[in-house]
Amino acid sequence: MALLCGGLEKGKKMTFLVISGPNLNMLGTRQPEIYGSMTLEQIHTRLRERAQELNVSVECFQSNHEGVLIDFIQEHAEKSAGIIINAGAFTHYSIALRDALAAVHVPIIEVHLSNIYAREEFRHHSLIAGISRGHIVGLGWRGYLYALQALTDLR
Ligand code: DQA
Repeated sequence: MALLCGGLEKGKKMTFLVISGPNLNMLGTRQPEIYGSMTLEQIHTRLRERAQELNVSVECFQSNHEGVLIDFIQEHAEKSAGIIINAGAFTHYSIALRDALAAVHVPIIEVHLSNIYAREEFRHHSLIAGISRGHIVGLGWRGYLYALQALTDLR
Protein backbone atom coordinates (compact mmCIF):
# COMPACT_ATOMS: atom_id res chain seq x y z
CA MET A 1 0.00 0.00 0.00
CA ALA A 2 1.22 3.46 -0.76
CA LEU A 3 -0.26 6.45 0.93
CA LEU A 4 0.31 10.04 -0.05
CA CYS A 5 -0.96 13.06 1.79
CA GLY A 6 -0.94 16.77 1.10
CA GLY A 7 2.03 18.81 0.29
CA LEU A 8 3.47 18.37 -3.15
CA GLU A 9 2.65 21.93 -4.02
CA LYS A 10 5.70 23.27 -5.72
CA GLY A 11 5.57 26.67 -4.10
CA LYS A 12 7.76 28.47 -1.68
CA LYS A 13 6.98 26.24 1.25
CA MET A 14 9.62 23.78 2.38
CA THR A 15 8.39 20.24 1.91
CA PHE A 16 9.39 17.45 4.26
CA LEU A 17 8.93 13.82 3.37
CA VAL A 18 7.30 11.57 5.96
CA ILE A 19 8.12 7.99 5.07
CA SER A 20 6.69 4.93 6.76
CA GLY A 21 7.78 1.36 6.23
CA PRO A 22 6.15 -2.05 6.55
CA ASN A 23 3.12 -2.70 8.72
CA LEU A 24 2.73 0.93 9.72
CA ASN A 25 -0.38 1.02 7.49
CA MET A 26 -1.90 -1.20 10.19
CA LEU A 27 -1.54 1.35 12.99
CA GLY A 28 -4.71 1.71 14.98
CA THR A 29 -5.33 -2.02 15.12
CA ARG A 30 -1.74 -3.31 15.21
CA GLN A 31 -0.66 -3.98 18.81
CA PRO A 32 -2.19 -0.75 20.16
CA GLU A 33 -0.65 -1.45 23.56
CA ILE A 34 2.74 -0.89 21.90
CA TYR A 35 2.02 1.50 19.04
CA GLY A 36 -1.04 3.37 20.28
CA SER A 37 -4.51 3.56 18.79
CA MET A 38 -4.01 6.30 16.23
CA THR A 39 -4.05 5.27 12.58
CA LEU A 40 -1.35 6.36 10.16
CA GLU A 41 -3.95 8.51 8.38
CA GLN A 42 -4.67 10.28 11.65
CA ILE A 43 -0.96 10.84 12.28
CA HIS A 44 -0.65 12.28 8.79
CA THR A 45 -3.58 14.59 9.48
CA ARG A 46 -1.88 15.84 12.66
CA LEU A 47 1.31 16.38 10.67
CA ARG A 48 -0.50 18.34 7.97
CA GLU A 49 -2.14 20.53 10.62
CA ARG A 50 1.18 21.17 12.35
CA ALA A 51 2.88 21.80 9.01
CA GLN A 52 0.33 24.48 8.25
CA GLU A 53 1.06 26.18 11.57
CA LEU A 54 4.79 26.04 10.81
CA ASN A 55 4.23 27.30 7.26
CA VAL A 56 5.85 24.21 5.74
CA SER A 57 4.35 21.24 3.96
CA VAL A 58 4.58 17.48 4.27
CA GLU A 59 4.39 14.70 1.74
CA CYS A 60 3.54 11.40 3.38
CA PHE A 61 4.25 8.00 1.93
CA GLN A 62 3.93 4.44 3.19
CA SER A 63 4.92 1.15 1.65
CA ASN A 64 5.40 -2.39 2.80
CA HIS A 65 8.03 -2.91 0.09
CA GLU A 66 11.70 -2.12 0.41
CA GLY A 67 12.25 -1.33 -3.29
CA VAL A 68 9.22 0.93 -3.42
CA LEU A 69 10.53 2.93 -0.46
CA ILE A 70 13.94 3.20 -2.12
CA ASP A 71 12.38 4.35 -5.41
CA PHE A 72 10.41 6.98 -3.53
CA ILE A 73 13.51 8.26 -1.74
CA GLN A 74 15.52 8.39 -4.97
CA GLU A 75 12.78 10.27 -6.74
CA HIS A 76 11.75 12.77 -4.08
CA ALA A 77 14.43 13.24 -1.42
CA GLU A 78 16.61 15.80 -3.15
CA LYS A 79 13.60 17.97 -3.95
CA SER A 80 12.61 17.98 -0.28
CA ALA A 81 13.98 19.93 2.67
CA GLY A 82 14.32 16.88 4.89
CA ILE A 83 13.01 13.44 5.74
CA ILE A 84 11.15 11.98 8.69
CA ILE A 85 11.33 8.21 8.49
CA ASN A 86 9.95 5.33 10.47
CA ALA A 87 11.26 2.38 8.51
CA GLY A 88 9.51 -0.18 10.73
CA ALA A 89 11.33 -3.49 10.76
CA PHE A 90 13.55 -2.42 7.83
CA THR A 91 15.27 -0.20 10.39
CA HIS A 92 16.96 -3.24 11.81
CA TYR A 93 18.16 -5.02 8.69
CA SER A 94 17.79 -3.15 5.41
CA ILE A 95 21.24 -2.12 4.24
CA ALA A 96 19.66 -1.16 0.91
CA LEU A 97 17.33 1.34 2.56
CA ARG A 98 20.19 2.75 4.62
CA ASP A 99 22.27 3.14 1.46
CA ALA A 100 19.44 5.00 -0.26
CA LEU A 101 19.14 7.39 2.68
CA ALA A 102 22.91 7.79 2.99
CA ALA A 103 23.02 9.02 -0.61
CA VAL A 104 20.72 11.98 -0.03
CA HIS A 105 21.85 15.44 1.02
CA VAL A 106 18.99 16.53 3.26
CA PRO A 107 18.62 16.03 7.03
CA ILE A 108 16.95 12.84 8.18
CA ILE A 109 15.15 12.29 11.47
CA GLU A 110 14.39 8.74 12.43
CA VAL A 111 11.19 8.17 14.41
CA HIS A 112 9.90 5.12 16.22
CA LEU A 113 6.59 5.06 18.03
CA SER A 114 7.86 2.55 20.57
CA ASN A 115 11.07 2.68 22.56
CA ILE A 116 13.05 0.18 20.49
CA TYR A 117 15.74 0.05 23.20
CA ALA A 118 13.29 -1.22 25.78
CA ARG A 119 12.08 -4.05 23.55
CA GLU A 120 13.53 -7.24 22.07
CA GLU A 121 17.26 -7.20 21.48
CA PHE A 122 16.88 -7.44 17.70
CA ARG A 123 15.21 -4.02 17.74
CA HIS A 124 18.04 -2.33 19.61
CA HIS A 125 20.15 -1.80 16.54
CA SER A 126 19.15 0.72 13.89
CA LEU A 127 20.96 0.84 10.57
CA ILE A 128 19.46 4.28 10.00
CA ALA A 129 20.57 5.92 13.25
CA GLY A 130 24.14 6.42 12.06
CA ILE A 131 23.10 8.44 9.03
CA SER A 132 20.36 10.42 10.79
CA ARG A 133 20.59 13.91 12.13
CA GLY A 134 18.44 12.84 15.06
CA HIS A 135 16.44 10.00 16.43
CA ILE A 136 13.15 10.10 18.37
CA VAL A 137 11.89 6.91 19.98
CA GLY A 138 9.21 5.89 22.43
CA LEU A 139 7.04 9.02 22.31
CA GLY A 140 4.26 7.55 20.18
CA TRP A 141 2.60 9.64 17.44
CA ARG A 142 3.90 12.84 19.02
CA GLY A 143 7.39 11.81 17.95
CA TYR A 144 6.45 12.66 14.35
CA LEU A 145 5.36 16.15 15.36
CA TYR A 146 8.57 16.70 17.33
CA ALA A 147 10.54 15.55 14.30
CA LEU A 148 8.69 18.02 12.07
CA GLN A 149 9.36 20.81 14.55
CA ALA A 150 13.05 19.86 14.68
CA LEU A 151 13.48 19.74 10.91
CA THR A 152 11.77 23.11 10.56
CA ASP A 153 14.01 24.64 13.24
CA LEU A 154 17.14 23.14 11.70
CA ARG A 155 16.53 24.60 8.24
C1 DQA B 1 8.71 0.57 14.98
C2 DQA B 1 9.64 -0.37 15.75
C3 DQA B 1 10.12 -1.51 14.85
O1 DQA B 1 10.97 -2.37 15.58
C4 DQA B 1 8.92 -2.30 14.35
O2 DQA B 1 9.36 -3.32 13.47
C5 DQA B 1 7.90 -1.45 13.72
C6 DQA B 1 7.54 -0.20 14.38
C7 DQA B 1 8.14 1.69 15.88
O3 DQA B 1 7.64 2.66 15.34
O4 DQA B 1 8.17 1.56 17.10
O5 DQA B 1 7.29 -1.80 12.72
O6 DQA B 1 9.44 1.19 13.95
